[in-house]
Amino acid sequence: MTTQSIKVTIKRGPDGQGAFDVPAHDNQTVLDVVSWVQQNADPTLSYRFACRVGMCGSCAMMVNGVPRWTCRTHISKVIKDGAVTIAPLRNLPVIKDLVVDMDPFFDKWVEAEGVHHGSLTRHDPIAPVDETSATRVEANAGIECINCSVCYAACDTVAGNPDYLGPAALQRAWTLLNDAKDEGRGAILDAVSGSGGCHNCHSIGSCTTYCPNDLDPMSAIAGLKRETTKSFFRRGR
Ligand code: FES
Repeated sequence: MTTQSIKVTIKRGPDGQGAFDVPAHDNQTVLDVVSWVQQNADPTLSYRFACRVGMCGSCAMMVNGVPRWTCRTHISKVIKDGAVTIAPLRNLPVIKDLVVDMDPFFDKWVEAEGVHHGSLTRHDPIAPVDETSATRVEANAGIECINCSVCYAACDTVAGNPDYLGPAALQRAWTLLNDAKDEGRGAILDAVSGSGGCHNCHSIGSCTTYCPNDLDPMSAIAGLKRETTKSFFRRGR
């Protein structure tokens, strides 16, 4: 433990912010800093977290202008000149302080048909899945998404076009499109080729750069672009 302190600025609402001197500790995370402020300096500060171990995806915030999962981000990696600025995630409405409304993010998963389209019942035998098939490999590539919305906050296309479905929803659509157990291929292709769909993506790649789980939404969206284009010509429209 050290006796140094960190100069922490926390953005609160469109105009407000607070400045705090937070004691520095070894192995301290950004979430530790926010928790210290709430517990020791300002109990009215609102923020969101649950697991603290990179599983639930609820703790994402902007840290020095970059979206990050704060429970797995050490202060030592982001601090600049002894200071750090923490703000709510970009591209989502702020409810209070560091808490954003995730509804638009999850609504887009549904819009993108990023929900399982099953056809079997509990009475059917379990369908075998070939884990080595090319489609299963594609499906597995994005399956560890924890819905943290870091990619959504990083996306300049979402910032410029609020109707764009965004990288997380499109990646989930790609996962399901490649899932042999999903029966929604036509619905998915229609959903992701609409006005807010995959063809809005400019392949800037911020989603892939900042994904804390090292997933690659940009490649998933590229896959959707290929499949929707093939489908367009196959269907003759
Ligand atoms: S608190 Fe669960 S991912 Fe950070």
